[in-house]
Amino acid sequence: MRSLDDLLAEGVAGRRVLVRSDLNVPLDTTTRAITDDGRIRASLPTLQALRDAGARVLVTSHLGRPQGAPDPQYSLAPVAARLGELLGTPVPLAGDVAGDDARARVEALGDGDVLLLENVRFEAGETSKDDAERGALADRLATLADAYVDDAFGAVHRRHASVHDVALRLPHVAGRLVARELEVLGRLTTDPERPYVVVLGGSKVSDKLAVIEALLPKVDRLLVGGGMCFTFLRAQGHGVGGSLLEEDQVETCRRLLAEAGDRIVLPLDVVCAADLGADVQTTVVPVDAIPDDLKGLDVGPRTVEAFGRELGGARTVFWNGPMGVFELAPFQAGTRGVAEAVAAVDGLSVVGGGDSAAAVRQLGLDEASYGHISTGGGASLEYLEGRELPGLAVLADRGEG
Ligand code: 3PG
Repeated sequence: MRSLDDLLAEGVAGRRVLVRSDLNVPLDTTTRAITDDGRIRASLPTLQALRDAGARVLVTSHLGRPQGAPDPQYSLAPVAARLGELLGTPVPLAGDVAGDDARARVEALGDGDVLLLENVRFEAGETSKDDAERGALADRLATLADAYVDDAFGAVHRRHASVHDVALRLPHVAGRLVARELEVLGRLTTDPERPYVVVLGGSKVSDKLAVIEALLPKVDRLLVGGGMCFTFLRAQGHGVGGSLLEEDQVETCRRLLAEAGDRIVLPLDVVCAADLGADVQTTVVPVDAIPDDLKGLDVGPRTVEAFGRELGGARTVFWNGPMGVFELAPFQAGTRGVAEAVAAVDGLSVVGGGDSAAAVRQLGLDEASYGHISTGGGASLEYLEGRELPGLAVLADRGEG
């Protein structure tokens, strides 16, 4: 896999370089303001290096999941504005993805300029399962540029035109963010320093089963919290009241507990409420006494303490998924407690994924106290599962075009 430095060494001054970034940031549903700009900041090192070297930089990204046609609520306009602020230079937004407006604006770029193309998912070809449809969009994107940099780690698990097919059409390299993610996540899969502790949360156990199966043989402890813990608790024979439960996964959880129960650590207590709300009444109960009419919405203080003890001795930690509904004050102590314990790890601590990364920032924790905050949600999990990721596989050849 060639690196950004390889491309820079060839000289990029005056060349048009297409960068696929993952600028898929959360927006406030009413104001459309960016609520967490972490992915934009993570994309800066590559863009800045290209600007400094005099490249004419075109950035392409998706935002949300529009249905293959322009949809103003998914416009990258707020992202262009924030990117411009962070780079300290205006970043105009093309009115289309790879159409007349994009072409005209690319023509007008000067050395060191940056242009953002409109949301690439406004084109049906981007996510199409049909090779020819994706290829047609990739052809149009490729004609805009002389070289391609994939820096969209969060999207490398997608076989999409701007992530996969365009790399087949241009000299291509991995950007700085992709390189850094691979370096760190590689340390979690190859000979991690022990004890190696993984904390998984989030709502659905079915989303995490593949990564649980892949990681269990490698870890010393797997701590399970979040909505997904209730399916495990059910598998242990506990009643879970109105908590999230995936009935069809109970048997699988039972098998995992039978096979690796010594390494799987489940909550001891949970914070319950009748419903979600910012000022609802809560009660903390042991996991074997969840009332029928209540829902478990966070892990309790004894759990935070127990998880903290496991994390305190760890030398390598990967954490993915909140412990509870951290967006609401009554249910954020579990996620905060785990986030603080992960930050205090004496060794490599990696925060994986959208929600846990957002939690770190939303709870006002210091990002610098973590070894690495991954920009990939699904991508980092699929990487740890050991799956081939289309956006990385395509970069594996020399890519000299
Ligand atoms: C993410 O948010 O994990 C990435 O940006 C990928 O988005 P997607 O799940 O809509 O493909």
